[in-house]
Amino acid sequence: MNRKQIIAGNWKMHKTLQEAEETVATLANMLSNSKTEAEVFIAAPFPFLFSLISRFGNTHMQFGAQNISEHAKGAYTGEVSAAMLRSVDAFFTLVGHSERRQYFQETDHKINEKIKQALAEKLEVILCCGETLEMRKTGKHFDVVVAQLQNALQDIRAEQMQYIHIAYEPVWAIGTGETASPDQAQEMHACIRALLHNIFGGQVAMNTRILYGGSVKPENAGELFSMPDIDGGLIGGASLQAGDLMKIIDSSPHSTH
Ligand code: PGA
Repeated sequence: MNRKQIIAGNWKMHKTLQEAEETVATLANMLSNSKTEAEVFIAAPFPFLFSLISRFGNTHMQFGAQNISEHAKGAYTGEVSAAMLRSVDAFFTLVGHSERRQYFQETDHKINEKIKQALAEKLEVILCCGETLEMRKTGKHFDVVVAQLQNALQDIRAEQMQYIHIAYEPVWAIGTGETASPDQAQEMHACIRALLHNIFGGQVAMNTRILYGGSVKPENAGELFSMPDIDGGLIGGASLQAGDLMKIIDSSPHSTH
């Protein structure tokens, strides 16, 4: 298997610019002493991106957004377009995080439009999916995740999939301290890879990075990342401190620290 793992931090609505710069400076320093082969992504709040990319754009980290507009431009007060992100050299964007789905009424259709906007501006995408506790309890979790991905990836071509990474984040595990067991996560990741095989064929299925998210921390990262279909993580709470995030990065099996 030669999929390079991705360790992505999702800072959500935390930190001031000064705090963000301090964390990234510490992390850059730690990364310069690490032999990790994992790709490190930071999804920062919009107002920090220009500064972080200007100051730290040539380090081991890639910076991106947590959300993107489904429109190219126009009278959409408060929105940020793919072209704007491209113009500050953002590398990627998260799309369809469960908090966006839950609090901002993002539908699969809207998520599909957002992906198309991102790709048009050559931004990589981390597409999030995942079931609620109730869906899991009623045994619908596989169907729900498959439907989310089928809809979100509507009209996407196989060759575009090299720019799309998937993050499986069970909603019941996000910010709760509750983590999917490595077996539960592996089972869903294998299901997602089988779906990619059905839609796009073997090559895409084999090459797509599928990240796990939901209360990943230094103590559980190593076991999760060693599962065959888990290609890294999307990390919220534990990405806010450089030391914790670095421990998680060093848990990636492709790290040769
Ligand atoms: P968490 O968040 O690591 O704090 O659970 C993960 C996420 O929401 O991406």
